[in-house]
This record gives sequence, structure tokens and C-alpha cells, in this order.
Amino acid sequence: MERTLIIIKPDGVCKRLIGKILDRFETSGFKIAGLKMIKLTKKIYEDFYSIHKGKFFFEPYREFMTSAPIVLCVLEGQNVINKVRTIIGNTDSKKAEKGTIRNLYGLNDRRNIIHASDSPKTAEFEIGYFFDNNKLYSFNDDDWMEKK
Ligand code: PPS
Repeated sequence: MERTLIIIKPDGVCKRLIGKILDRFETSGFKIAGLKMIKLTKKIYEDFYSIHKGKFFFEPYREFMTSAPIVLCVLEGQNVINKVRTIIGNTDSKKAEKGTIRNLYGLNDRRNIIHASDSPKTAEFEIGYFFDNNKLYSFNDDDWMEKK
């Protein structure tokens, strides 16, 4: 079983797409193992996105990512990293495949609604950055049912 981190960015939150986006992943067969809403500070942005430091979009992306709350969500399932990347579409919303989340709701390569980890190594880092391991939950579909 694999896990990935998705981030619903400020445009996704402000456009009131949280429910639609999470529904898309749940109906695709993935389980939510962790979920929280935060507002990124400049300091956390610069630490978490230090890989992009020096790139031309680092500062404008910081303004965007700190402009409103974001939603952090850990999804769990088979091959979830690759499957979620397919569901969200190309980084540039204008090039995103028809029906993908970025194609439906995004504007461009910065205002593209959602982030998802791109490899197992990245997923491990990104999940660990925002979630304590003991605040993640694995459950079975029938855990809520009365056991005879
Ligand atoms: S890159 O260029 O190889 O670092 O691209 P990538 O690893 O896909 O990460 C790009 C992330 O930066 C955000 N971003 C932009 N990308 C390209 N061009 C512009 N102008 C830009 N502005 C912001 C892009 O949305 C990706 O964000 P994440 O958080 O990774 O989804």
C-alpha cells in the first residue's frame, strides 16, 4: 500500500473545490489517511519549497501559496502516486489533459489548484514534513460495522 501527499492550493480552497477534489479521489478508490487545513507562512514556504529557490517563479509562487489557506491530504492506495498524478493532469493547466482537475479548474502553471507528490521518495519527505506518523490512519472499509 502506497501513500502520497496532495495539497489543495489557495485557488482550490477559495474556489470552494475542497469537497469536489476529495470526492474525486475517494470515488477513484483511494482512502484519506490524514487531512488538515493550514495557512503557509513565508518561513514554511521557503523551507518546504527550498528545492525551487533561485527559480524565476520562487517569489511569485510564495505570494500565491501564502495568500489563503491550503489543505494537506495524505491519500492511500495501490499505485496512488502515479494514479493521482494522472487524475490531476499537467503542471500547466492550459496543457492539462481534458477532464483532469487542473484542466477543469486551473488557470496556468502557478494557479493550478493542486499539488501531488511525484515519486515515493518525494512522498515520504512531503508527508513527513507535514504529518506525524501517529497522526495518519489506515482503516478497513468495514471497520465501522458491528462485529458478530
Ligand atoms: S520544475 O520547473 O522542474 O521545478 O517543475 P516542477 O518540479 O513540476 O515544479 C513546479 C512547481 O512550481 C510551481 N510553479 C511553477 N512551475 C512552472 N512555472 C511557473 N511559472 C510556476 N509557478 C509556480 C508549479 O505549480 C509546481 O508546484 P507544485 O507545488 O510542485 O505542484
